[in-house]
Amino acid sequence: MTERRTLAPLGRRTVPVVGNEALGGYRLISVDDRDGPHPRPGQFYMLSTDRLWGADGERPYLPRAFSHARAREDGRLDFLLEAVGPGTARLAGVAPGEGLGLVGPLGLGFAPAAGRRPVAVGGGIGAAPILCLSDELGAQATVLLGFRSERFAEAARLFRAAPEVATDDGSVGRHGLVTELLREALDREPDAAVFACGPPPMLEAVRALCAERDVPAQLALESGMACGYGACFGCVVPTRGGYVRLCVDGPVLDAAELESALVPGAGH
Ligand code: FES
Repeated sequence: MTERRTLAPLGRRTVPVVGNEALGGYRLISVDDRDGPHPRPGQFYMLSTDRLWGADGERPYLPRAFSHARAREDGRLDFLLEAVGPGTARLAGVAPGEGLGLVGPLGLGFAPAAGRRPVAVGGGIGAAPILCLSDELGAQATVLLGFRSERFAEAARLFRAAPEVATDDGSVGRHGLVTELLREALDREPDAAVFACGPPPMLEAVRALCAERDVPAQLALESGMACGYGACFGCVVPTRGGYVRLCVDGPVLDAAELESALVPGAGH
């Protein structure tokens, strides 16, 4: 079993932005983190900008939690972002040469084990940790991705091997849910181990499907995160063994620990 946690250096560090490209409905932001440690797929970073991190005259925003999409040997980290609010809009607008604040890598990542065929499933921006996991697993992994539409499915271009794609509107790939692709993949490969990241309803469908077939699964869950390192208890989710903090005990959890991947009170 691969070690799941790379320890973060203490405190926030500022690294230069070296790229910001449009990728369909997303932005791909690259930073040079050559002095930081190499992260595990599924770990995450708390991100903020060096300047203009807050509305005029207001307190700064809280940092935003993002899993890296790709970590290169030279220390470059890529993040896949979608501007969905003021903090993510500011992050999505950073220019090369600006400073990005990083805390991380944080949390527990994926831990593929030998002996089962990996099937990696990403939904929307949840494709990000699936990308670095597929970089690590190489040709042995089956990769299944689901997006809203062709515009967002542009992110599939980042993958070295061609993934199978499903879209909600049928504009590219299978017209339907990525979990339909997963059902078919498990029909072909019952000795699979599943790794998934995406919106909670997708993760719950993956969890239920894997439980029904006795297929081991690791799920990267989402939660609002204020600190990212265990201090605020804002990211607590229930498991069969009690409450856990996703930022230190996850975000990747063994699906067998969960009654459901839907977090009570989270509104999904
Ligand atoms: Fe603060 Fe997890 S985000 S404890």
